[in-house]
Amino acid sequence: MLEKREIIVIGGGVVGLAIAIELQLRGASVTVLSRNPGEAAAFVAAGMIAPQAEQIPPSPMLELCLRSRALYPHWTRKLEEISGLETGYWPCGILAPVYKLPSATSVGNEPMELQWYDGSKVHQFQPGLSEEVVGGWWYPQDAQVDNRRTLIRCLQVTARELGVDLCEGVAVGEIVNDKQQVTHLITNNGNIGGEHYILATGAWAGQLFPLPVYPQKGQMLSVRVPPSELELPLNRVLFGEDIYIVPRRDGLIVIGATSENVGFTPEVTPQGMNTLLSNAIRLFPVLKDFPLEEFWWGYRPATPDELPILGESPLSNLTLATGHYRNGILLAPITAALLAERIWTGKEDSILAHFRYTRFEQ
Ligand code: GLY
Repeated sequence: MLEKREIIVIGGGVVGLAIAIELQLRGASVTVLSRNPGEAAAFVAAGMIAPQAEQIPPSPMLELCLRSRALYPHWTRKLEEISGLETGYWPCGILAPVYKLPSATSVGNEPMELQWYDGSKVHQFQPGLSEEVVGGWWYPQDAQVDNRRTLIRCLQVTARELGVDLCEGVAVGEIVNDKQQVTHLITNNGNIGGEHYILATGAWAGQLFPLPVYPQKGQMLSVRVPPSELELPLNRVLFGEDIYIVPRRDGLIVIGATSENVGFTPEVTPQGMNTLLSNAIRLFPVLKDFPLEEFWWGYRPATPDELPILGESPLSNLTLATGHYRNGILLAPITAALLAERIWTGKEDSILAHFRYTRFEQ
C-alpha cells in the first residue's frame, strides 16, 4: 500500500526542518522523514554564524552566506515566537586572533564591518589571550546559535506546532523514479509517496541519490567555566588558527573541530582530542583548568568544490538541499527561504544558478 503525502522532506536536520517550516507556513502540508535526528550535523556543529571568520572569498557563496546571516535575527525570533522556546541566537561577534602579522597590504583597507586590532589592542579588547597573539580581526556581525541544545529542539517544536508531520525513526532506503519523476520512497515503514520531495540528508545524501556528497568528520568537545570564576572569561567567539572556541551564555564553552577525510568512521580519538585541547589552550590558556564536560563527533556534508547543492535535480519533483559542508547552521534560513519559494511559487532566485548539481556533470 502507498501512503500519499503532499511534500516529503527526507532528513530531519536543521536544513530539512527549516525548509519544512517555511513550506508549511506558506500553506503546504509537509511530512519530514528522519532516520535518527541525533545523527544530524545540527547536533554536532558549534553553531557559528561566521561567513567572515570562515574567510569565504567574495563569490556567490559569500553573498549566500551574508544573506543568510542577515536573516538570522528575524528567523530565530519567528521560531521562538511559534515554539515558545529559545534558539540560543547570540550576536556576540567573532574575534580571529593571529600568531603572525598579516602583510601590510591586507591591513588598513578593511570594510566597515570588520576591524584589525594590533598588538596590545587585541589583548585589551580580549583579555586572557595567549602572549603569542600579535593581533586579531574583529567581525562584529558574525554570531552564534546554540544549535545542539536549543535550535534543533526549537525547530522540531516549531514544525510540530505548525502541523508538520515529523516522523522519526523512518529510514528511506530508496528513491524510486520513473520517467524523470519520483514515484515513491521505499522506507523501513512501508512505501510513501508524495507530490514533491526534498533531499536534505546531509552527509548521507550520496547514499540515496547519485551526488558527490561525502562525510568530512569533525571531532569536538566542551568545557565548563567553573563556578569559582565570578565572570565569564569570554563573551565572544574566538576563531583561531585550526581551532575555534565558542562560549555559551551559561558558561559552557564548545571547542572544535577536527576536519578528517575518514569516511563514516565513528568515535572521538585521543589524537583528535589532543589536537583540539592543545590548540585551544595555546590560544586561550585559562581553559587549561576548566572541567571537561563532553566530547562528540559528526560528519559535515562535503562536496568537491565545498559549495552546497541546492535546487533542481534530474527528477522534476525532487529538490536538492545538501552539501552545506562547514556552513549548514549558517545557511539554514536562506536555504529554506529560497527553496520554499522555488517549490511553492516556481520562482527561482538567480543565486541558485551557482549551486546547481549540474556543475558536477561532465
Ligand atoms: N563551521 C565550522 C566547522 O565546520 O568546523
